[in-house]
Amino acid sequence: VDDFLEVKMKTAENGVLDGVFDRVAKVYDIGGIEFFKPVARRLVEHVGVGVGQRVLDVGCGRGAVLFPLAAAVGATGSVVGIDLSSAMVAATSAEITDLGLDNVSVLKMDGQNPEFAPGNFDVITGSMSIMMISDLATAFGNYARLLRQGGKLGMTIPIPPTDLTRWTLGPFEVAGLVKEIDPAAVVADESLAKFFRGEFYPSPTSCADQLRAEGFAQVDEYKEKLRIVAAGAAELVAWTQSHSMRVVWEAIPESRRGKVEVETIAEVTERNGGPGQVTADLQISYLVASI
Ligand SMILES: C[S@@+](CC[C@H](N)C(=O)[O-])C[C@H]1O[C@@H](n2cnc3c(N)ncnc32)[C@H](O)[C@@H]1O
Repeated sequence: VDDFLEVKMKTAENGVLDGVFDRVAKVYDIGGIEFFKPVARRLVEHVGVGVGQRVLDVGCGRGAVLFPLAAAVGATGSVVGIDLSSAMVAATSAEITDLGLDNVSVLKMDGQNPEFAPGNFDVITGSMSIMMISDLATAFGNYARLLRQGGKLGMTIPIPPTDLTRWTLGPFEVAGLVKEIDPAAVVADESLAKFFRGEFYPSPTSCADQLRAEGFAQVDEYKEKLRIVAAGAAELVAWTQSHSMRVVWEAIPESRRGKVEVETIAEVTERNGGPGQVTADLQISYLVASI
């Protein structure tokens, strides 16, 4: 627990879950489970990005939205991705070079205060990222200025479980992990404490209200279900360690973590009725706002 708290305190930055995205960048969104990419493709559809447009992607991570955006704007458009995680920026930048794309670039920058000229963008996107920013009113006010008149903002948010003590991902009772965590570690860490109070992410309704308060005239919300499919219990459990949920695993004392993982895989397999494919349904909110 001491090591865990020390690492968290050393790496805390605005909204990046205390460096967790630097730690997961190498395994993020590359396993067998398709989640971030289908959500991102759907976001690009909902926003309606066109050829020749200039787009900013906030919290671009490994490029789930960035690469579909680059294809949508074509050679005459441009896409810039920003992220606070150096490891994410480095890995995505290398991929852009490998793919030989010249209409897209990435920069390390805080999504709360992006440094670009007013009216610079036709579209701003952020999938599973913008809701992590600590001061959303400031961020939305900045996006309103960075967009040209008539520009659009599109973001996605996971709809959180209403009751953390019953939090499930298909046959995976995530709430079971909570029992393994030392309450002192939760209390000592505000981002973890918020997570456990079920307040980690703002609700889509409060985001929509804040967007209106910052001058976005029209805000539409689309709530959709996404089914994730894992080859087996081990793949589902590994997936929960490859993104922000890793903070829950890291809060389990290291001496117990391996054992808890083995026990969890066995429990998920049993609740699944045996080995083989495991599915879980997640609720996603897509917000599309126009200025
Ligand atoms: C769950 S990932 C989503 C990445 C990508 N948009 C996707 O859909 O796969 C969240 C990303 O947001 C980034 N992030 C969180 N807070 C940020 C902030 N204040 N400014 C910039 N990036 C941020 C994290 O570093 C991480 O890469």
